[in-house]
Amino acid sequence: MESFTYCVRAGDVAHGGDVSSRVKSELKNRGLPEEIARRAGIAVFEGEMNLILYADQGGTVQVTIAPPAVEIEVEDEGPGIADVERALTPGYSTAPDWALELGFGAGMGLVNMRNQCDRFEIHSRFGVGTWIRCVIDRRSDAAG
Ligand SMILES: Nc1ncnc2c1ncn2[C@@H]1O[C@H](COP(=O)(O)OP(=O)(O)O)[C@@H](O)[C@H]1O
Ligand SMILES: [Mg+2]
Repeated sequence: MESFTYCVRAGDVAHGGDVSSRVKSELKNRGLPEEIARRAGIAVFEGEMNLILYADQGGTVQVTIAPPAVEIEVEDEGPGIADVERALTPGYSTAPDWALELGFGAGMGLVNMRNQCDRFEIHSRFGVGTWIRCVIDRRSDAAG
């Protein structure tokens, strides 16, 4: 089992996508199938963009490669999500105008993330923070 942790800075749009690119290469370098690297890349991208756009102090992305699965955890310390159900509704977004102008804020990030995973959990407390776990099963990939 191997684990990597990446820090994502609040507001750092210029580096949006860096962590997901890194994660994809790490997975491919270890011989995991393209398909798993691609799914993990999408999930991490959405997670890191949300840290950049919404988390007051940024947050962390942790990726664990274990024999049965690749696990992605995205964590921050606020502001938290008042209504998680609503945040998971396709098209719902509170992205600020400057983010919309850059092409973000389609309100599909969390849905997209959930769709890449075999198991998805999100826990958030308004005023406290958000924790997301996304698990992608490896089943019988060659690098097993
Ligand atoms: N880490 C987070 N902290 C606080 N709010 C968040 C976080 N991630 C998502 N949200 C809220 O959930 C909404 C939906 O997120 P998402 O599905 O990624 O779409 P988008 O980023 O395009 O708005 C965001 O607009 C924001 O209001
Ligand atoms: Mg998003």
